[in-house]
Amino acid sequence: MGILYCSKENIFHLQTPNTSYVLGVLDGKHLLHLYYGKRIDEYTSILDNFPIAGELAFSPIDVPEHFMSTNMLPMEYPCYGSADFRTPAFHAEYEDGSSVTCFEYESYEIIKGKKKLEGLPATYVENDSEAETLEITLCDRLTGVKVVLSYTVFNQVDAITKSVRVQNDGNGIVTLKSVLSSTIHLFDKNYEFVHLEGAWAKERSIQKRPLLNGCMQIDSKRVTSSHHHSPFLALARPYATETQGDVYGFSFVYSGNHLEQVEVNEFDTARVNVGINPFGFSWQLTPGDKFQAPEVILTYSDCGFGNMSRTFHKLYRTRLVRGKYRDEKRPVLINNWEATYFNFNEEKILKIAEKAQSVGIDLMVLDDGWFGKRNDDNCSLGDWVVDKNKLPDGIESLATKVNDLGMKFGLWFEPEMISEDSDLYRAHPDWCIHVEGRNRTPARQQLMLDLTREEIRDYIVDAVCSVLKSAPISYVKWDMNRNATELGTKSLPPQRQQEFAHRYVLGIYEVMERITSAFPDVLFEGCSGGGGRFDAGMLYYYPQYWTSDNTDGVERLSIQHGTSMVMPASTMGAHISAIPNHQVGRTTPLTFRGHVAMAGQFGYELDLNTLSDEEIEIVKEQVKLYKDIRDIVQRGELYRLASPFEGNNTSWEYVHEDRVVLTYYTIRARSTTGKTNVKLCGLDETAKYTETTSGKTYSGSYLMNVGLYFEDKKDYSSTMLIFQKQ
Ligand code: GLA
Repeated sequence: MGILYCSKENIFHLQTPNTSYVLGVLDGKHLLHLYYGKRIDEYTSILDNFPIAGELAFSPIDVPEHFMSTNMLPMEYPCYGSADFRTPAFHAEYEDGSSVTCFEYESYEIIKGKKKLEGLPATYVENDSEAETLEITLCDRLTGVKVVLSYTVFNQVDAITKSVRVQNDGNGIVTLKSVLSSTIHLFDKNYEFVHLEGAWAKERSIQKRPLLNGCMQIDSKRVTSSHHHSPFLALARPYATETQGDVYGFSFVYSGNHLEQVEVNEFDTARVNVGINPFGFSWQLTPGDKFQAPEVILTYSDCGFGNMSRTFHKLYRTRLVRGKYRDEKRPVLINNWEATYFNFNEEKILKIAEKAQSVGIDLMVLDDGWFGKRNDDNCSLGDWVVDKNKLPDGIESLATKVNDLGMKFGLWFEPEMISEDSDLYRAHPDWCIHVEGRNRTPARQQLMLDLTREEIRDYIVDAVCSVLKSAPISYVKWDMNRNATELGTKSLPPQRQQEFAHRYVLGIYEVMERITSAFPDVLFEGCSGGGGRFDAGMLYYYPQYWTSDNTDGVERLSIQHGTSMVMPASTMGAHISAIPNHQVGRTTPLTFRGHVAMAGQFGYELDLNTLSDEEIEIVKEQVKLYKDIRDIVQRGELYRLASPFEGNNTSWEYVHEDRVVLTYYTIRARSTTGKTNVKLCGLDETAKYTETTSGKTYSGSYLMNVGLYFEDKKDYSSTMLIFQKQ
C-alpha cells in the first residue's frame, strides 16, 4: 500500500486499501493518466495495453516517436498550446503574448506524510505514518514555468488528494489563466454526471444525467461556492445504486468560484476536470513567484454511492475538521432566530434560555439583531457593538446570566458584510467590493467588504475578537448572506483585478484562521443563508454548518439526504422549528421533526415557552435521546436505505461500534400499499442485535437480508430504532 514507483517502466502506482491510481511517463516526457479504479496489483507497461485507440483524424502529431497526438492521450496535467484541443488544466499567457505551454516530466519525489497547503484548507495527517505523498514536477522548458503535482495516499481511507503548485522559475511575467487542481480520464463514456444543485432553502438536490459527447459542467461565478452548485461531482455507472456499481467522487476543498467539468471526445473517452473556475480568473506570477491551487479529494467505490459518501465522511470528520470539537461531544443548542427574529430583548432571550435549560439543552445562541440599531435587515452590518436598547447590560451580562443557568452562550456574526446604513460605511464608503463609477448592487440590502485588503481583514479580526474577548462566548454562528457583484478592489493594479475572486477566498480563509486559532475553545458553525458555501473548504474552520434555512421536516429529508452525499452528519446543523413551518407552512408532528433533526447536529429553533406541557415532555425525551445516540449519529457510518428523491419514504442507518440507529420516515399515508421493507446494511452477519425498546433480538444476517417492515399509515410519521450488538 502507498506509492510505488517502477523505474523500468516509469510508472507510479498509488494504492489505497481498495483503489489504485496509475500514472506513467511516456518517453520520459509525457505524464499520462493510465488508470483509476478498483485496486490492482501491478500495471505492466504503458504501451503494451494502451487505453486509447482510434484514427488520428485531424489530430496533429506532437508525439512523433509513436506517431501519436496528445489530443488522443490521457494527459495527466493537460496544458494549452499544442495538439491537445480538449479543455486544459493549465493555460497561461507569456510576456511575448503567446499562450503556448508544453509541460514535460522533470522529476519526482515521494515523502512520508502530507505537507500543508499555504493559505488554503486541506486534509491533514497527525502522524507522518498515516499517508505518503508523491510530488511530480513538470516543466515548460522555454519559459521555465514548472508545476508540481501533489498526490497524497492515506493508509486507512480510500481517498487520494490532489493539488497543484505553479512556480515561475523563468525570467518573465507569466499570467495564469487556468490552473485546475485535477484532471483524470475515464476510458468510456457510459457514466452519469451526478451533482448537487440548489438554491436558498432547497439546498443540494441530487441531479443525474447521462454523459454525452462534448462538455458538461457545473460551476460558480459568485465568489462563493454557493447554494446553487456544490463543489462536488460524481461519475457513476447508470446502474449504480447506494450499494452497487462504480462511482467516482470528486470533492473540491474550496469555497469560491469552482468548476467541475467532463469532456467526452470523439473517441468517447471522458476527461474530468476539477478546479478554480477559469472564468473571471487570472493571476500574475513574477519571476520566483508561486501559485498554490486548492486540493481535490478523489474517491472510487465499486459498491455504489453509499461507500463513496462514507469515505468522504470518514476523511472529513477525522482529517479535515480540526480543533477540540472534532472529537468532543457537541452541545445541543437552541437558537432564537425563528423564535423572535429581530424582535427580542434580554428578558425574552433569558426566558427562552430558562426553558431550554429545564429540558436539558446545553447552549443558547443569540442570532441576528443584537448590534448597532438592527431591528430589520436594512442596517448595521459592520457595527459589531451591542444595541443597548435591546440588551442594556451588554453581551457580557447576558452571556453570564445564561452561564448562571448552567448553559453556554453563543452569538451570531456576519463579519464579511457592510450595510450602507452603518457607521462603518459612513466612515469607509470605499471598503465595500465595488468598481468606481458602477452601481453597487445590494443583496438583502447589504454590500460585501473587500477582503483582499489587509486593513479590512484586520478590522474584521479585531471587531470579532474584541466581542469574543468581552464575554464568555462559547459558540459563534458565522453567517454570509449574499454573493459578490461588481468585482473590483483598489488593493490591486488593473492588470491584477482578475485575481480578485480567488484573493477574496484567501482573505476569508486568513480571517477564519486567525480568529479560530485565537479562540480554540469556541465552537464555530458556518452559515450562508442556510447552507450556501457549505463546502469542504469551510469545514477546515467550522466543525459544523447550518444546513438550510428551510427547517420543515419534510423538506429537510431531501436537503439532508443530498448533503450527506459528501458531508458527515456531525457537520450538518439540524433544528426542530415551530409549526406551521415558517418557510413552507406545513404542520408536522414534533416527533417527526425530532427524528429528522436528530439525524444531524441536533438543536431547536423556536420558543419552547409556546409549547404545551405535553410537548415539553416530548422535548425532554428528545434531548435525552439525542445525547444518548449522538455518538452513533455523529461518528457512525451512514447507510442511506431509502431516498426521499425516489419515493414516499426515507430511511437512514448509522452504525457505530456496537450500536445502530435506524430511522424511517413516511411522508404520505397510503391506503392500499402493504408494509415497506427496509434491509439494514453494514452489520456483522453472525452477531445478534437487540432492539432496545421492544427487547427483540435479531441476527445481523436477518436484519440485512430479511429486513424490517414499516407501515405507511399516517402522514409525516416516523420511527427511530436503536439496536445494541450482543
Ligand atoms: C441567515 C441565516 C439564518 C439567520 C438569518 C439572520 O438567513 O441562514 O439562520 O441567522 O440569516 O439574519
